[in-house]
This record gives sequence, structure tokens and C-alpha cells, in this order.
Amino acid sequence: MNLSKRINEMQASPIRKLVPLAIEAKARGIKVYHLNIGQPDIKTPQVFFDAIKNHKDKVVGYALSPGDPNLIQAIRRFFERDGIHFDSDEIVITNGGSEAIMFAMQAICDPGDEVLIPEPFYTNYNSFLKETGVKIVPITTMATNGFHLPSSNEIESLITPKTKAILFSNPGNPTGTVLTWDELERLKEVALKYDLFLISDEVYRKLVFDHEITHSLGSLKGIDNNAIIIESVSKRYSTCGARIGSIQSKNKELMHQVVKLAQARLSVSTLDQIGATALYDLDDSYIDSIRMEYEKRRDIVISELSQIPNIKFETPKGAFYIIITLPVNDAENFVKWMLTDFELNKETVMLAPAEDFYANKNLGKRQVRIAYVLESTQLKKAMIVFKEGIQKYIQKRKND
Ligand SMILES: Cc1ncc(COP(=O)(O)O)c(C=O)c1O
Repeated sequence: MNLSKRINEMQASPIRKLVPLAIEAKARGIKVYHLNIGQPDIKTPQVFFDAIKNHKDKVVGYALSPGDPNLIQAIRRFFERDGIHFDSDEIVITNGGSEAIMFAMQAICDPGDEVLIPEPFYTNYNSFLKETGVKIVPITTMATNGFHLPSSNEIESLITPKTKAILFSNPGNPTGTVLTWDELERLKEVALKYDLFLISDEVYRKLVFDHEITHSLGSLKGIDNNAIIIESVSKRYSTCGARIGSIQSKNKELMHQVVKLAQARLSVSTLDQIGATALYDLDDSYIDSIRMEYEKRRDIVISELSQIPNIKFETPKGAFYIIITLPVNDAENFVKWMLTDFELNKETVMLAPAEDFYANKNLGKRQVRIAYVLESTQLKKAMIVFKEGIQKYIQKRKND
């Protein structure tokens, strides 16, 4: 029996594809530092657990399809603190930011439509778009330019009659790049000129360093009907397993249609929504502490990388990722070698090869992504192991 063309064309998670090698390394008694995946180690705030514990219903029933009204109000307050107003019917709760992106695609695109995405981009965008038969058209950004956007002319040259939207993550995964107000304004101009949706994936919003601000797309004036915002508790509140996200838009017709998708999957986890409500009511001091923790880790990574000759990187301003260009021809081979052939005092490091973050895979051939999701002491050790590994690898290549 044949399976669908769609499922056959979907990629398996490139971030997880080398996991069997890590399992084998561990079986050989090697400790593997995981810098390959964006799973924060920071403790989930206690209020999340307390809220669920204090919930007294004797039946775990379905929540309302568009989401628990208390959570929707808490998200409204979260945006309101930044001067952004959403009505209750302009927010739908989803199973993580992932489902919010899929809902956006299903609601605005038909098969064959095109969506512009700055590359490198979060690899699962490939899957979300493939599922809906949508083609990714990359807007190539360069490490040398801090992965900032090219000129509006360059972006406009990619637009065809099939283009429906521009999707971007801000701050960026895998780059850590924070888009400036000017860049957002430029995207707005392009979206208005060609009547496109702008989809701002803000799952890392507020995780920014060096006094940067991540401007929510909701702060821009005059694009209410074109703007879609993707939110999630996963990263900011260290709650990846809660699977709570949301889609926001002031386009009432769009949100009315999105509710049909929400109804078709009945509901999002009742208990996790109760926990998430408490998270959104945490004040800025919580977010500041998380931001400072990631900034400290970013600085450890930068300080260690600065000591390695011939590697290139730009200092990221947000999220918890950095792309580095290595003096190797194929970064994936290096990542594999670290797991199969290298150890420093019975320790090694797992990284994510960056080519799968690109539509033009060659652009990422010599790059890896580091996710600095380990606490400082572990992170420092991991970076020392990495430093040793890359130097040994280069030496070995020279001798081969
Ligand atoms: C840019 C970006 N968007 C969306 C997601 C999905 O997050 P979740 O579904 O856990 O909210 C991730 C997860 O890593 C991400 O990096």
C-alpha cells in the first residue's frame, strides 16, 4: 500500500536525526552535552504547578475550543502591558506555537501558494508548510550581516501572484537575530503594497540581551488586517511540555475561520491551560531574571568561541541560539565525528548541523547551531570540550 506523497515528502526532524549516534556514545560511557536542541533547563515557575494543584474539578473535561477564557484574558493582559490591545475573540489558544503556525497556514493558504521566510529558519517551518502544500520561498540573510533582512527591493523581487505571506521568527531561531523597528516597518510596507499576511513568530519575544527590545508585530500601526502573531509559553516560561500557544490577529474574519480549525480538534489540554494562565500573570521581574540568565550564558559561549581561531560568528541579541561558521567543508561530518570518534575525559558535545535550517542547503554546509540551554558551569565545560574537539578535527583533517 502506498502512503501519501505528502507524508513521503515531509522531512524527519533534522535536529533529532543524529540522536542514535548520541545514544551509542552514551552506551560507551561518554557524557554528551546537548547543545543541539532548544529545550531549556530552567525550572518551570512554581505558579504553574500550584495553579493545577489548586484546580478542584473532579472531571478533566474538554476546554472550550477557542481556549480557556481565563487564559485568553491573561494573554490579553500580557500584550496590554506592552500597549497592545486584543479583543477576546482575536486570540485562539493552540497546542503550542506549532499548531498556531499550522492554523495560520491552513487558514490563509491553498496548496501551491508561496510564503516568504528569511533563511536560515526554524526547520519545522518546512513541515508545517509541506503539510499544507505551501512552498517556502527563502529570503536569504547572511551571517556577515548579522542575519538582518536584505533591502525591500530584494524582498519584493521574490513576490509572485502566488505569494500569500511573509513568516519570520523574531528573535530568530537559529540565528538569535532581533529585527529592528525599521526592519518591521519595511516588512509592513511590503505586506501592504502586495496585500500579504505578515506572520510574526514571537515564541522567543522578551528573551533579548544588551537592552534590546523585541518589538511585537502588534506594536505596528496600520496593518491590523494583515498581521498574525504566534505566541507560546514553551521557551519564555520554560514550559515546552505544556503545549500551550496561541494565535492572535485583529483580522476578525480570519480569527472567525480559525475557530473552525480549533473546533475540529475539540480542545487544548484543560490542565495545562490553567497552569499557563498563572504564567502569563507573572510580572516582568520573572522575565528579566530569565533574560539575564540567558545573557550570561550567551556571554560564556561568546567568550569561549572568541578563543578559537578561524571560526566566525555574530553575537546574537536574543533567543538562546548562535550560528557559527567552522573552518570545515561539511559541518555535519564534524558533528557526527564529535559523537563517534571524539572524547575529552569521557565527555563530548552534540551540536545541530545548520544546513537544514536553510532552503538553500549549501549556505549552511559549514555552519552549526549551538543552543545555550545548559546552566553556566555545564555550558562552560561543554564549550571547552567543543573547543578541543574542533581544534583536533581540523588538525586531523590536515594530517589525513
Ligand atoms: C521559532 C520557533 N517557533 C515555534 C516553535 C514551536 O514551539 P512550541 O510549539 O513549543 O510553542 C519553536 C520551537 O522550538 C521555535 O523555535
